[in-house]
Amino acid sequence: MRTSVFIIKGNIVYSKDVHSLEVCEHGYLVCEENRILGVYQTLPFRYGGIPIEDYGDRLIIPGLVDLHVHAPQYSFRGLGMDMELLEWLETNTFPEEAKFQDEEYAKQAYRIFVGHLRKGATTRACIFATVHRPATLLLMDMLEASGMKTLVGKVNMDRNCPNYIQETTEESAEETIRWLREVKQRAYEHTQPILTPRFIPGCSDALMERLKEIQMSNQLPVQSHLSENPSEIDWVKRLCPKAEFYGDAYDQFGLFGRDCKTVMAHCVYSEREELERIKENGVYIAHCPESNINLSSGVAPVRKFLDMGLRVGMGSDVAAGSSVNLFTAMAHAIQASKLRWRMLDNSLKPLTVEEVFYMATKGGGAFFGKAGSFEPGYEMDAVVLDDSGLKHPQELTVKQRLERMVYLSDDRQIYAKYVGGKKLELENW
Ligand code: GUN
Ligand code: FE
Repeated sequence: MRTSVFIIKGNIVYSKDVHSLEVCEHGYLVCEENRILGVYQTLPFRYGGIPIEDYGDRLIIPGLVDLHVHAPQYSFRGLGMDMELLEWLETNTFPEEAKFQDEEYAKQAYRIFVGHLRKGATTRACIFATVHRPATLLLMDMLEASGMKTLVGKVNMDRNCPNYIQETTEESAEETIRWLREVKQRAYEHTQPILTPRFIPGCSDALMERLKEIQMSNQLPVQSHLSENPSEIDWVKRLCPKAEFYGDAYDQFGLFGRDCKTVMAHCVYSEREELERIKENGVYIAHCPESNINLSSGVAPVRKFLDMGLRVGMGSDVAAGSSVNLFTAMAHAIQASKLRWRMLDNSLKPLTVEEVFYMATKGGGAFFGKAGSFEPGYEMDAVVLDDSGLKHPQELTVKQRLERMVYLSDDRQIYAKYVGGKKLELENW
C-alpha cells in the first residue's frame, strides 16, 4: 500500500448537495496526500494496516470557507456599528486602513488577525488587504506560514476616498503590477493573489481598464462588493449612467465573471437582471449576513439565489461583521432569513442548517476548485470538533450536534484542523 495514504476516524458530516447532509457515524475518511479518496462506514480491506488517527466521538467536517473578509479591519471589529455603509467607510474604515502604511503597525495587526483565523474552523478565505503593497505582502507572508489556503488582494481605489488613502490611477495600476511581481518571486504554496477593485465608487473607468489588462495578463480571479446598500447603489447609478445595473458596471470592463473567476460580496439589492447576469457569468456571491445587519444594509434574498442555482458561499465581512467565526455567520444567515420571510417576503422560505452548511463548505469551496466536501477527489481540508464541553443530558444525533455547533460553538471546540492534507499546529499562534 502507498505510504501517502492516511486515515482519520470520527463522526463525519459533509455536503454533496445544497439541501441535505451526508452523515457517517464512526466512519473512516481515507485520504491520499492532499486529496480525499473516500468516506467509508467499514474500512475497505485494501486500506488495512494503514495507521488510523481515531478522533473517537468527535465530529469531522470539511474546513469552512470565508469568501469575504477584510484583514485590516479585524482591529476595529465590534466598534462603530451604528452607521450605514458610506458613513462607516469614512468614519471607521478609511482611517484605520490608512494605518497600514506603517509596516510595524501592519505586522502587529495582521499577526492578531492571522492567529485568530488559524484557531477557528476556517481553512480557506478570500481576503481584502489595503491599498498598501508592502503591508499586503506582509499579510501574505504570514498567511503562507499559517498553512491556510488564501486568496489575498491589494485593494485598488483611485477616487472618492480621503487623500490619505487614495491612489492615483497610475499608482494603483503600477503598484498592483509590482505587487504581483513580488508575489511571484515569493513562490508561495498556499497563498495566491486576487485582483481587488474595492467597489465601483472607489475605482475610475481608467483604473478599471488598467485592472482588466492586469487581470488578463496574470489570469487573476477578482473580488469586490456589489449592491450592498441603497445609497451606494444610487451613487453607482450617478457615476455610471451607461451601466444597466450595478453589476453591469463591472461587466463592462470584463471584471464580472465569464473569463475571470469573480466573487462579489452582498447582492442584497440585486434585481432580476443583475441576478441573471450573475448566473450567466458564473459569478460567486459571498453572503455576509452579520455585516448586512450591522450596517443596516438589509437581508439578501439567499433563498432566491439558491432557487436560481447561483453559486453562493458565506463571508464574515469583518469588520462590518464582528466575527470571523463562520458558524456564527451560518446562524446569522438562518436568523436573518427568518426575519426577511416574516417581515418582508413570505414567498422566500427561511434557510436551513443544511443549506447554510453547504454554503460555508462546498458552496464557497468551489471558488477554490474541488474544496469544501469529502467526495472523492476533493482537497483534504477537515476540521475536528470536540463538543464535549457543551454539556447536555439527552441523546443527540450527529446532525443535532452539528446544528448546535452552528449556534453555540467558538474556538474552544476546534480540536484539530487539516488543510490540503496537512495537519496544522493549533497552539502557539
Ligand atoms: N464597500 C466598499 N468597501 C467596503 C468595506 O470595506 N466593507 C463593506 N462591507 N462594504 C464595502
Ligand atoms: Fe466587505
